[in-house]
Amino acid sequence: MDNVILIGFMGSGKTTVGLRLSYRLRRPVIDTDKEIEKEEKRTISELFAIDGEEYFRARETQCLQKLLKNTGSYIISVGGGLPLRKENRLFLHELGQVFYLRADAETIYERIKGDKTRPLLQCSDPKTKIRTMIEQRDAYYREAADVVLQVDGKSFEQILDEIEAQVQENGKCRQ
Ligand code: S3P
Repeated sequence: MDNVILIGFMGSGKTTVGLRLSYRLRRPVIDTDKEIEKEEKRTISELFAIDGEEYFRARETQCLQKLLKNTGSYIISVGGGLPLRKENRLFLHELGQVFYLRADAETIYERIKGDKTRPLLQCSDPKTKIRTMIEQRDAYYREAADVVLQVDGKSFEQILDEIEAQVQENGKCRQ
């Protein structure tokens, strides 16, 4: 399939890059967190608090299964924990070209400190939690990705240019 998929840790820029890429490439954008919130008619925080993380993870997998039935080419940004399930990594590969927006723990912390919308980071020491989680997740993100983009210190324009070049390259290979 011909979608462009953005994965990476919370705060790595997937949502913003997804929106801006959608303008550039003239393709609609889908965000799995937003899809789930729309279907559930409640926020991710409410969902975690009431039904727990496992329920949310199952909803993420369902969301991917639904996307696999779509035709057309989309920009898809996914929740930071979605690539942790093996079946999800396989689904991501089936969906299209997967970009891992990779950022250091310091970059992430600076971007999302004080954010209350991410249930997994509501703890006394979010900085350490971010570092530990990135260490645990990096290998899964790499396994899911076709392209790894280090984003620290880069402007959105630079990131978009790099993704666009790779998308074009991939398009040529597919012809
Ligand atoms: C999560 C990331 C969040 C959201 C949920 C869990 C994670 O999405 O899906 O809070 O496990 O990393 P963003 O990466 O868009 O913040």
